[in-house]
Amino acid sequence: MKVHFKQDEPDNANRLDGMKQDVLGKPVSRVEGLAKVTGTAPYAAEYPVANCAEGVLVTSTIARGDATHIDKDSVLSMPGVLAVIDDERLTTRAAQGTANEAPKQGPRQVCYWGQPIALVVAESFEQARDAAKHLGVEYREEGGAPLDPASAETEEQEDETVRQGDLAQAMRDAAHSVDVTYTTKGHASAAMEPHAAIAEWEGDRLTVHASLQMLNYNISELADALGVEEENIRLVSRFVGGGFGSKLGISEEVVAAALAARELGRPVRVVLSRQQVFQCIMRRSETTQRLRLAATSDGTLTGFGHEALVSNLPGEEFAEPVLQSSHFLYGGENRELMLMVARIHRMTAGSVRAPGEAAGMPALEAAMDVLAEKAGIDPVELRLRNIPEKNPEEGLPFSSHTLAQCLKQGADAFGWDSGPRRPRQRREGEWWIGTGMASAARVHNIAEARARVTLRPDGTALVETDMTDIGTGTYTILAQIAGEMLGLPPKTVMVDLGDTAHPRGPGSGGSWGAPSIGSAVYVACKAIREELAAKAGVAEDRLELKKGATSDGQEIGDLLGGKDLVREGHYEPGDIEDDYTASGFGAFFAEVRVNAYTGETRVDRMLGAFGFGRVLNAKTARSQCLGGITWSIGVALTEALEFDPRDGHLVNCDLAEYHVPVHRDVPDLEVAMVEERDGAASPIQAKGIGELGMCGGAAAIANAIYNACGARLFDYPMTPDRVLSVTAD
Ligand code: MOS
Repeated sequence: MKVHFKQDEPDNANRLDGMKQDVLGKPVSRVEGLAKVTGTAPYAAEYPVANCAEGVLVTSTIARGDATHIDKDSVLSMPGVLAVIDDERLTTRAAQGTANEAPKQGPRQVCYWGQPIALVVAESFEQARDAAKHLGVEYREEGGAPLDPASAETEEQEDETVRQGDLAQAMRDAAHSVDVTYTTKGHASAAMEPHAAIAEWEGDRLTVHASLQMLNYNISELADALGVEEENIRLVSRFVGGGFGSKLGISEEVVAAALAARELGRPVRVVLSRQQVFQCIMRRSETTQRLRLAATSDGTLTGFGHEALVSNLPGEEFAEPVLQSSHFLYGGENRELMLMVARIHRMTAGSVRAPGEAAGMPALEAAMDVLAEKAGIDPVELRLRNIPEKNPEEGLPFSSHTLAQCLKQGADAFGWDSGPRRPRQRREGEWWIGTGMASAARVHNIAEARARVTLRPDGTALVETDMTDIGTGTYTILAQIAGEMLGLPPKTVMVDLGDTAHPRGPGSGGSWGAPSIGSAVYVACKAIREELAAKAGVAEDRLELKKGATSDGQEIGDLLGGKDLVREGHYEPGDIEDDYTASGFGAFFAEVRVNAYTGETRVDRMLGAFGFGRVLNAKTARSQCLGGITWSIGVALTEALEFDPRDGHLVNCDLAEYHVPVHRDVPDLEVAMVEERDGAASPIQAKGIGELGMCGGAAAIANAIYNACGARLFDYPMTPDRVLSVTAD
């Protein structure tokens, strides 16, 4: 039986707090953890499939033009080679489901350097890789492709534009004003597991084991790209070694494996090399951002301006939503916000680790530090003074607001010295030491979700959905929610995810996973409780379940009368989305050391205080925050995609040259979780967590660099050369 629930009103009953099993929110270790660390959890490429051929993609070596001739004969006689697939549908746009057409005869259009144009399939991976290197490709290059966002044509994202009052006048009238421009570099998702797919056809039915975040959406994309009915496709993604946005959509390995397997009549595996993951999977756009802040003498904002330039390929819809939290984080009645997109020929720009805030907040929060200095106000105090009562643009109330609490709690826990600040106050040997802070904000997203819950007479339960767990803890929190609602220890709740044979979940992205799928499981369990309550002769809200029995000793098995009780929960976000501005909030505090001679920055300690609604699992929630803070260290200090200005190719396409923070770069991090219930965010009063930890953290480090050594930098990442360019005497 299906149960539909659409949330139109806040739910402040906090029903989950009245349950008796007492497992929700507890630091339960991940249920799949043992399988992962012992290597028995199969990832996409590891699925045992008999008689599997191996495919290797060939990518373009021009930024714009056509591949006019692909010389299949040049490799078909090489050892083990089975086929060369150059179907147009495996190129990026078709692979993203935007070109549902029969393959064109003739040249393949190339839009960026590194774009997949063909797949070579052989008996072994080594044979396929060798042949791929030898595949003859002729190009007609269309020279002069725009590669630099600064000089390319731009388009305004009109729905982002805000003009309210008169910012220029507010700047002229301000006691303190700041007008600064920041840049951030492009970022790679850099998930540890490379993109991989194994495709297998049985007649006209296709099964693909792949590494994907959103099966509910990926199945339609794949159906479109192949021209196959969704009913004939099964996608399986039980374990995903990180997505970070790069697996939100399908990419070429999935389409290529499916096309090749159909042509050859046997299973085909395609795994991207690390270099290919960098070259042809989407990037986060670089940004240029101008911040204008106008304030009274006590630091109250009267004007707020944020204009950003980002980039994408011509015709692509996505524009890094840099202004996302700028629309509501601080007050200021005179406002000017604008987002421009430059059209350039680099690989598609898309969602990477907290799209929007991860690039926008480092600029905004560094500009706030400049204002605090000018106004002679403690940076924490400056932020406290500018928290708006309601959304300053739309006038909507906030669903909940924890920024003030996070700022205060974080400052206390960190030992923040409040008061006006001066740089270069502390030196130890060759190191300058300093501290800095920043606010965090990340919009709360939520999506439609379905999950089936089966309660069995033996006192166990099963949760089934095509939702994924991309390392976030979904398996575990769903076992906890169902366990709490049904009065079962989480160990007796089996959770089966990542298979489109199950009801459609929301997928993992935009930090919406836990609140969305958690709510679907909640809805299903509530329906099961109603049934049990009727059988036990009590009202559902009086039914107390613990350890498989009611509080008056009736066993669940007896109530079920020997039969399974099955409910499919369907959660749908309702009108409530238009009634509130919902966001997670937080505050970062960092202490850094900057070497006076080399300009090297080391983060010595860092603390994040976050409010994101109900904490479903204290351990996995904390881990999410630790990951987010770690990413913000990358944004601040090392992560940068570097493109060759001559031909547009990505220069640093491995994890040695594109440096994400490693163990040695990350100090002991501290996380303070500010507990709250947000009944307008979701029926389970939870908001997203995953990305909040990176939204603004880089600015805390930038501000600490300034406090340490006096280098006020405006370009991320703040590499030693940039620090030295300011501090070198
Ligand atoms: Mo996320 S970057 O929306 O997976």
